[in-house]
Amino acid sequence: MRHFLDIHKTDADDLRRMIDRAHAMKVARADRPRGAADDDQPLKGHMVALIFEKPSTRTRVSFDVGVRQMGGQTMVLSGKEMQLGHGETIADTARVLSRYVDLIMIRTFEEATLLEMAEHATVPVINGLTNRTHPCQIMADVMTYEEHRGPIAGRSVVWCGDGNNVFASFAHAAGQFGFDLTFTGPETLDPEPACLDFAHGQGRPIRILRDPDSAVAGADLVVTDTWVSMHDPESAKERRHNQLRAYQVNEALMARAKSDALFMHCLPAHRNDEATSAVMDGPHSVIFDEAENRLHAQKAIMRWCLGV
Ligand code: CP
Repeated sequence: MRHFLDIHKTDADDLRRMIDRAHAMKVARADRPRGAADDDQPLKGHMVALIFEKPSTRTRVSFDVGVRQMGGQTMVLSGKEMQLGHGETIADTARVLSRYVDLIMIRTFEEATLLEMAEHATVPVINGLTNRTHPCQIMADVMTYEEHRGPIAGRSVVWCGDGNNVFASFAHAAGQFGFDLTFTGPETLDPEPACLDFAHGQGRPIRILRDPDSAVAGADLVVTDTWVSMHDPESAKERRHNQLRAYQVNEALMARAKSDALFMHCLPAHRNDEATSAVMDGPHSVIFDEAENRLHAQKAIMRWCLGV
């Protein structure tokens, strides 16, 4: 059984095959209406549970649409409305759901919840974001880079801002896909050291620079994310904004990158905080391709999980 829990826990050749399949599946339905079924129906007869303990727009809709395009059915479940939110254990929830459905995607807070779900489920489990990582997002980001600029291997990627869960999955991807990753942000919001170890072990040590201008110089891809994540307390907002203001991605900062550099943000964004609208809507930006590619990348991930 194949769980998709994290990028560094998944075989690099399998990741590459998933990205290639995602590209092929996107091309195959290029001129179709959004709601049209794929020619292939590999999920026909499959039921997929999508569990959300945190809000979502992209993850929820892209998984739901992806399953339907491939002929399967979904049930979207709110953690709060399940017994999971009222004291039933994760292990029992995993065992019960495994009697009804063929695949579970869960967005949750603690990584331990995801891991416990995977340990006790007898069907594949997909990580739809935890406080620690967001692997489906970064699969879409790698796909997006490659569809615009070719192989990401050897490219220079710069992350500006908070060393959060999305950054952690970028760090894992640097090790698996072989690109150079630089983090630029305040020391107080550095990434967890453990998320840097994998890339280091793969011969892709991650640079940490405090000066955003130096960090972005010559970059192929500039990435940022919201300054206050879903699991951060609202009380931290003002302090975080003060710490991160110097790392805003604006036109002056983008001008330091290569002339054909791309800009990414996984969304949702707080426009004119972490990135200006001029950058988000500007010539370097591929943010809505990124959002679309969640759909295609996750379809390939689900097929890998189910072996179909
Ligand atoms: N990027 C992302 O995961 O978006 P949602 O929170 O809307 O799912």
